Amino acid sequence: MDKILNENISNMQLIPLDLLNEENSLNIRIYIMSGNIPKMVKDIGVHFSKDLKNRLMNLSSSDKNKVLINKDDVKEYINICNSMLLKIINSNDRPKDTFTQVFDILETVYDTLSKNISKESIKEASKSSEYLSKFLESNPKISEVTIATLKKDLNTSIHVNNVQKLVAGFSSFIGIKAKSLSFIINSAFFHDIGKINIPDEILKKSGKLTDDEYKIIKKHTTFGYEILKKNNLPQEAEIAFTHHEFIDGSGYPNQLKGNEISTDSKIVQICDIYEALTGIRSYRNSLVNFAALELMIQDFFNRGKIEKNIFMDFLKFLNYNKIES
Ligand SMILES: [Fe+2]
Repeated sequence: MDKILNENISNMQLIPLDLLNEENSLNIRIYIMSGNIPKMVKDIGVHFSKDLKNRLMNLSSSDKNKVLINKDDVKEYINICNSMLLKIINSNDRPKDTFTQVFDILETVYDTLSKNISKESIKEASKSSEYLSKFLESNPKISEVTIATLKKDLNTSIHVNNVQKLVAGFSSFIGIKAKSLSFIINSAFFHDIGKINIPDEILKKSGKLTDDEYKIIKKHTTFGYEILKKNNLPQEAEIAFTHHEFIDGSGYPNQLKGNEISTDSKIVQICDIYEALTGIRSYRNSLVNFAALELMIQDFFNRGKIEKNIFMDFLKFLNYNKIES
């Protein structure tokens, strides 16, 4: 029997259903909304049965948006995502779409984390970057795979996930390895985390932003820095802080110049700009790959805003060879 609880809905958060798997222990509380009341359908310590899985899967699509977990179980949920990540990565028989599957899980991790930031959940989410860097290192053909999947699905998933995918592929392509690789992937994962402190009505506004709204959006770099610093991720914090600075001093928040900005931050920034131009946005049409690169050459490279060597490598990574280097 389902338990009816007087739990406050603010203690709950939605989760995507596709990762629920009866093979994993799933030591979390799961709820379905019944009117305004969350009904518990699985408690901690109770086996996640095939029947329950089927029941959740068979919900109508609008009801599927009503499956929740307790916010106290977020860390455990990310831990489950990480186990699935490891299972895919360590499998001897990796499916062809492993790269896409890995990023689907990472998207879930980000989505879950961004709704409920805590020390534990940030720490748990950072592990997924470590696993991803190991996967990239064990897969020498990764830049080909990255490019293939980017062409196929860059427009379908969310911004952060796309930027992380680009940073992962590009960093491996230019030979970044081991801890440095894991760190830059984690930085890409967290680069926009400060946006959780920006009101939704500004963040999701479909029309043009006013000057005041734009000023508020710009604060996400400082917010991100503060969140990550507080959570013992000082290097990731530095990238969140500087990923909108330009080498000519025209960026924000501190108008840094040249080498005042780290190479890692410049890498994340180039991938960030490219994704912003090619990903689907509600307020404009997205550009196809090479049109985006042409625009980056005109608006950023020719104007001295982004670093030549890194940008040239990025063009090589995307097989673009129409520019003299
Ligand atoms: Fe940003």
